[in-house]
Amino acid sequence: MTAPITRRDLIGTSAAAAALPMPSLADAPAPAAPAAPAVAALTINGQVHRVAIDQRTSLLDALREHIGLTGTKKGCDHGSCGACTVHVDNKRVLACLVLAHRVEGRAVTTIEGLAQGDTLHPMQAAFLAHDGYQCGYCTPGQIMSAVSLVEEGHTQSEAEIAEWMSGNLCRCGAYTNIRAAIQDAARAKRA
Ligand code: FES
Ligand code: FES
Repeated sequence: MTAPITRRDLIGTSAAAAALPMPSLADAPAPAAPAAPAVAALTINGQVHRVAIDQRTSLLDALREHIGLTGTKKGCDHGSCGACTVHVDNKRVLACLVLAHRVEGRAVTTIEGLAQGDTLHPMQAAFLAHDGYQCGYCTPGQIMSAVSLVEEGHTQSEAEIAEWMSGNLCRCGAYTNIRAAIQDAARAKRA
């Protein structure tokens, strides 16, 4: 039969463990240094911008923080709200989920690149005509998404528009007018 473990035994064991040498912070491996910025040549609205940015920089941050194109909005920064929608090679993408370095050599279009001089893009004009906004924060993303939606052909009904625009949230709840604007612009394009 083994002897029972006493409180004195436990305290003795703990004291011995405490006396063992502990690894110090100085022994820990140094954290990896952040990647050095690298120059990315980004074609935005037909113009090439050369920017020195970290490999991890999102297209959204490159546009807003490095190139000064602040029309593209940051809402969630996690791919959930659609405020950052831009076009890459004429397809809608969420700029917060795309690494800027990955779009080198591809054509990026932002809300600033839609109008032709003083002439608004038909979708911009339709949003104006239908009051498709209130505070306007989501509007650039809504318009970029809506332009793609018409090209994709998902505008046969208000329900279809609602479904295919569901990734673009509007906290002001301007959905009815947004859908009316899109239907109008789509009809005008078909005519
Ligand atoms: S900011 Fe990109 S989806 Fe919300
Ligand atoms: S108009 Fe305010 S969030 Fe859509």
